[in-house]
Amino acid sequence: MGAREWRVYNPSGKKRVIVTKELPGERWLRVLAGAGCRIEICTSSDFLSVPDIKAAIGTRCDGAIGQLTEDWGEELFSALKRAGGRAYSNYAVGYNNVNVNAATKHGIPVGNTPGVLTEATAEMAVALTFAAARRVGESERYLRAGEFKGWLPSLFLGELLWRKTLGIVGAGRIGTAYARMMVEGHKMNLIYYDLLQKKPLEDFVSDYSAFLTSKGEPPILCKRAQTIEDLLREADCVSLHTALDNSTRHLINLERLQLMKENAILINTSRGPIIDEEALVAHCRKHSSFRVGLDVFEDEPALKPGLADLQNAVIVPHIASSTRWTRQGMGTLAATNVAAMLMGYPVWKGPSTLVFLEDNPPKAAPSIVNAKELGIPTIET
Ligand code: GLV
Ligand code: GLV
Repeated sequence: MGAREWRVYNPSGKKRVIVTKELPGERWLRVLAGAGCRIEICTSSDFLSVPDIKAAIGTRCDGAIGQLTEDWGEELFSALKRAGGRAYSNYAVGYNNVNVNAATKHGIPVGNTPGVLTEATAEMAVALTFAAARRVGESERYLRAGEFKGWLPSLFLGELLWRKTLGIVGAGRIGTAYARMMVEGHKMNLIYYDLLQKKPLEDFVSDYSAFLTSKGEPPILCKRAQTIEDLLREADCVSLHTALDNSTRHLINLERLQLMKENAILINTSRGPIIDEEALVAHCRKHSSFRVGLDVFEDEPALKPGLADLQNAVIVPHIASSTRWTRQGMGTLAATNVAAMLMGYPVWKGPSTLVFLEDNPPKAAPSIVNAKELGIPTIET
């Protein structure tokens, strides 16, 4: 790896916070400076290893903001603890790269950035859905290669999603936002698989169905799947929105892919290892009308052999939350998590973290995943 560059913001700050990548926008810097921090930012786009980060933590470090590409485990949390660290935030909503138990053991709060990336990620899931259904990547490659000889009745036949059945695996914030876009926009029936019943989502679909019938249109349906197998058999399009942990690793394996409709669409904007990617490549090779849209990969940034050659796969490089507003908002939330913990503030339990992007945000941390284990007080308003 090449030489690392670090820049310093607010050098006179008394608390030292390290940030392993440049983040978009300026507000996050003002949040930390406002809490009396000196901020050291790694300006290199090289990925930092555990020893690199350990060296950056050094002997005195009050807090850190890290990336989902980094392995925040026992080694880094014990180093951070020894350096006097009292706060860590991941610059992501997902935190499968963080060993939260190790952080808790060392008394270090772990923040994440929910809420601000919900709509952006759902919008990318929608983009991938239609790119896969309508063969956007494949037909664009054909056009750019000069192969288009004129309009033909059967050129790139794809799938219509209007009034078909959508399946979502994981009906959290992002899954629900995606379901809402697809149900409302394309009048799809919804089947969801989640450990919990999601009454607000069910009510949304039934209210929308009542609206449609009031206009003389057919109703739409919503149901909770008893098993993931039921959902996979029934849905025309399946989108994955579950967190990655040991219970969801390879949730979509070869057996389950084989339950899906031959011309189904599978979308993943959550985490790569939720799909057995080798099995997916084999399945896509065998079934040319099966289509996938992927933002995340099992061995990111590497792709499993054969994936990049599949015409029926639309692939983008983990950019679902990448809108300017979203990535700036994630910076504000991550910085506020760290600043709030260093200031001794409680953790926010209000309905939406978007208040932290407004003027006069609450004096609280937007989201600390181990707040309960660490006994950190919470506030609602
Ligand atoms: C991105 O993948 C995130 O978890 O925020
Ligand atoms: C993440 O924001 C989720 O709960 O889906």
